[in-house]
Amino acid sequence: MRPLFLFVSGLTLLLANTASARDSQPPLMMGATSCSSSNCHGGTQTGKDQFTTWATEDKHAKAYGVLFNPRSQTMARVLGLKTPAHESETCLTCHGVTAEAGQRGPKYDRDDGVSCEGCHGRAGAWLEPHTRKGWTYAESLKLGMYDNRDLAKRADGCLRCHSGIDHGLLSAGHPDLVFELDTFSAVMPKHWKEKQPWAGAKSWAVGQALALQRSMEVLAKRTGERKRLDEADRNCFSCHHNIYDVNWPLNPQVPGKALWNASHYAIFRHFLQQAFPEQDKELAGSIETIDAAFRSDQPDLPGVTQAANQVAGQMKDLVAKIDSFGFQPALVEALVQQISGDQEAYQKGGFRVAEQGLMAVDALTLSAAGQKVGRPAVLQQVRKLYDLLDVKDPARYNPKVFAAGMEQLHKMVAQP
Ligand code: HEC
Ligand code: HEC
Ligand code: HEC
Ligand code: HEC
Repeated sequence: MRPLFLFVSGLTLLLANTASARDSQPPLMMGATSCSSSNCHGGTQTGKDQFTTWATEDKHAKAYGVLFNPRSQTMARVLGLKTPAHESETCLTCHGVTAEAGQRGPKYDRDDGVSCEGCHGRAGAWLEPHTRKGWTYAESLKLGMYDNRDLAKRADGCLRCHSGIDHGLLSAGHPDLVFELDTFSAVMPKHWKEKQPWAGAKSWAVGQALALQRSMEVLAKRTGERKRLDEADRNCFSCHHNIYDVNWPLNPQVPGKALWNASHYAIFRHFLQQAFPEQDKELAGSIETIDAAFRSDQPDLPGVTQAANQVAGQMKDLVAKIDSFGFQPALVEALVQQISGDQEAYQKGGFRVAEQGLMAVDALTLSAAGQKVGRPAVLQQVRKLYDLLDVKDPARYNPKVFAAGMEQLHKMVAQP
């Protein structure tokens, strides 16, 4: 099991544009217990235990329950919600699967939290037929199953809930949202077997591209519609220390400006340089515009909106290409070498960049298990890096110590 990142913060969100243009009459939401028969997904045998894993180990099953806890109650009060958190759309949009009264099957239960249909789509139309002999996955997709086998769609599905909250919600007490597809899938834990070769490396890359796209869409919205830069796009730890204190006290020792939180770009850029150098060059100008705005007293907001939209568009085009990109040991090795060798990122980028760097080398080396870059000593050094990052106290992130650990990994990978 990989270490977890549990950072606290709060939100006012930019609601994801999730009401996809489906049929005018959406299928029924059937509820998790529709899938729990021991012959189906509620067994203990591998391959028939998805419900069991979700119900016993996966935090998604508790996502609704946490809306009753004291922290959620405080958040509802601070935000001035008209209803308690567990009845508010502001929270339920990510902490449950919601369905109008007329669209609920007999076993629908809001208590289920983020249940099967939160990720696999409403099952009303495909639940019964998908158990038939000879029924295919493609037929289920036609009836509204969400295509999680497509990594881009998978990442997009997760990011709908795992990104995009702003400082208002954070400062009401919501945890800060961090995401990396491969690591977060492992932490769930996975209730599926990956079938593709290099699944870990691929989901890392696709997840990064989607996360960058999503963060840029949010930035474009904040600067375009709201005409402001949000603190949530900056490095939290420049202004706050000790985020394990629910109150995130402000850090009196760090005056001045908090810079852009570049964690969605700083590490991923190594992949672009290796695999899609043209795109990397195209991106550079837009990124510079964004970075400069966060350094400026009079940020060029229309410029940021335009640049952010441009990056988002580029990522959208790129994602399809990554999914069919041929990963090979040489590329993955080069990537790990480059990422672990980026001393500047760890010295100057701040905790969030270091965290993405670590999740990247973790995903990449694990996906190369059995290869040179995935040999046991390397994997062990990656585990050591988790200790050095000290996820318990990000505000005391020690760039020197972490960068030295990365340098050690870099040297190991470079060894013949
Ligand atoms: C954009 C989606 C989104 C919205 C909107 C949202 N949350 Fe969350 N919330 C999450 C995610 C994702 C996590 C898990 C974060 C992690 O650990 O990486 C989470 C975690 C939490 C936690 C911590 C749970 C724990 O296990 O300790 C609480 C409490 C919480 N949310 C309450 C709320 C409340 C109350 C609202 C409404 C005011 C709300 N959330 C709105 C996505 C959301
Ligand atoms: C947080 C998102 C999420 C939730 C919640 C979720 N799944 Fe999944 N599930 C996935 C992803 C991602 C995959 C991998 C892609 C695929 O095989 O479709 C997957 C795969 C599966 C598979 C294919 C297994 C394999 O090895 O090929 C089954 C069956 C499944 N899920 C059933 C369920 C059931 C039943 C529930 C509810 C008890 C559930 N899932 C809840 C995301 C989720
Ligand atoms: C419908 C919204 C939604 C979707 C879709 C979703 N999540 Fe979540 N996820 C949440 C919420 C809310 C929580 C917090 C639950 C809690 O703490 O009780 C959470 C928690 C988690 C956690 C636990 C984090 C921690 O700090 O312990 C992981 C890991 C995770 N999600 C991974 C994923 C992955 C991977 C996907 C996509 C395959 C995904 N999620 C899709 C809403 C969602
Ligand atoms: C530019 C400085 C700055 C940055 C960057 C910043 N904050 Fe804040 N934060 C503040 C200020 C000022 C307050 C108090 C006023 C308010 O609530 O907006 C605050 C309040 C908070 C609070 C509530 C503290 C309390 O005592 O009630 C939390 C939690 C929080 N921020 C989390 C975050 C997170 C998480 C990030 C990064 C994603 C972040 N902040 C980035 C300046 C910042």
